[in-house]
Amino acid sequence: MRNMTENELTGVVIERYSNTPDPRLRAVLQSLIRHMHAFVREVKLTEDEWMAGIHFLTRTGQISDDKRQEMILLSDNLGISALVNMVSAGVPEGATETTVIGPFYVPGSPEQQWGESVLRREGDEVPLVVHGRVIGPDGEAIPDAAIEIWQTDSNGMYDIQDSTQPADNLRGWYRTRPDGSFLLKTIRPTSYPIPVDGPVGELLRATERHPYRPAHVHAMVSAPGYQKLTTHLFDEEDPYLDSDVVFAVKSSLIRAFKLNESHEDAQHWQTEAPFWELENDFVLARGA
Ligand SMILES: [Fe+2]
Repeated sequence: MRNMTENELTGVVIERYSNTPDPRLRAVLQSLIRHMHAFVREVKLTEDEWMAGIHFLTRTGQISDDKRQEMILLSDNLGISALVNMVSAGVPEGATETTVIGPFYVPGSPEQQWGESVLRREGDEVPLVVHGRVIGPDGEAIPDAAIEIWQTDSNGMYDIQDSTQPADNLRGWYRTRPDGSFLLKTIRPTSYPIPVDGPVGELLRATERHPYRPAHVHAMVSAPGYQKLTTHLFDEEDPYLDSDVVFAVKSSLIRAFKLNESHEDAQHWQTEAPFWELENDFVLARGA
């Protein structure tokens, strides 16, 4: 095929991928090509602009490493992660809603015992106690479910962004008891800016967008026979709930952290008064 017109080109390229044996890969690639070509036509992309885009993506990859995931950050900031979550996460009625995983998840965080805190530094922050159960769609207890949490410290930084924090600070996982109950301890999360010293920061500045995420605790809950739940618990008092830079807020995930000054309650939850308290059940959907 030579001397193609602009309109012939797209069809020829799509046809060239038609022998891809995996039908899903073939469908995804051919659709990607169709939409990318349409995008180039729509904005009449110049060669300088295309090269600027390639350099931008190159820098996004180059700044990424095992602790910094600028590619996920870019996907989050373009709303792609939120859209993938919306179109792929078919959560049945009644189950806890999912949201994006974000760029700061690190596999292999330490196991916590009942009521242990994931705060691994000295500090006088009021503790946040989260208690509740992991249950299935019919309210059945899910024993031995793993609840993994991660969040920023009070300076708005995750441990992997901040060398002054101890390793695994504010991340860890808990197991539920036979009745599905759990008791986890952390500190109240704060809103935080996503990192703006890389290509995603350039994008935010060029588009005059603020870099803030509303305060949240990340949670990933898994148990055999149930769908893995990746979600957040957002603080209802946060001013950024309606302008989350990564578009990940869902109303059903907003929670009230209540200040509890009862010494009796504190003793029951293995902490000291006053403490922030959140009673929260995670409801998992059945499935692999
Ligand atoms: Fe986060």
